[in-house]
Amino acid sequence: MVNDGNNSAADFLPGTLDLESLRSAAAHCEGCGRYRNATQTVFGEGSPQATFMLVGEVPGDQEDRQGHPFVGPAGRVLDKGLAEAGIPRDDVYVTNAVKHFSFTLRGKRRIHQKPTAAEITACHPWLDAELEVVDPRVIVVLGATAARALLGPAFRVTRSRGEPVPLGDALAVATIHPSAVLRAPDRDAAYAGFLADLQVAARAA
Ligand code: URA
Ligand code: SF4
Repeated sequence: MVNDGNNSAADFLPGTLDLESLRSAAAHCEGCGRYRNATQTVFGEGSPQATFMLVGEVPGDQEDRQGHPFVGPAGRVLDKGLAEAGIPRDDVYVTNAVKHFSFTLRGKRRIHQKPTAAEITACHPWLDAELEVVDPRVIVVLGATAARALLGPAFRVTRSRGEPVPLGDALAVATIHPSAVLRAPDRDAAYAGFLADLQVAARAA
């Protein structure tokens, strides 16, 4: 198939939906142009029985190299927050709204490129399939890109964070992205707010 980068991940979904079949199919996804630039697809990870599904934006530099979600600096903030909110790591499934890293080069540094609205839409079938298989009770929406993918373009994280909202059979709780904690002028305050939202998610279960 000739790929102009304007298709959808829907063309690559497997016949049977389970995490293993999804992961192997997603490894060959060319549903948008992002696969061209990346090392590999970074699919979600965790228990198919997880109570909590965490949805980030897109893999970063480290995630692209290692092939696992949230293993870089943002992942360390996330892990700390989960531990302090009392959300057990083995009861969590972690994924991203968009599964391929893309970058622009600044010298030798690979600067992460935000996914476009079209790319978020193209990648959405993977996220939908993960939601169907994992069927989480609580969905933690990490930042504006995940919010756009799951709650629509009108949702504002700054306005509605930390408030559980129904999403299918689940409750969604939005918060800021852990990378935003790292970039915040007052990191301690930003982290405290992030943790408070995760505590809401813990209680929502
Ligand atoms: N940021 C994200 O949104 N996801 C990752 O997996 C890593 C960093
Ligand atoms: Fe497929 Fe998503 Fe990667 Fe685009 S970003 S190629 S839709 S997995």
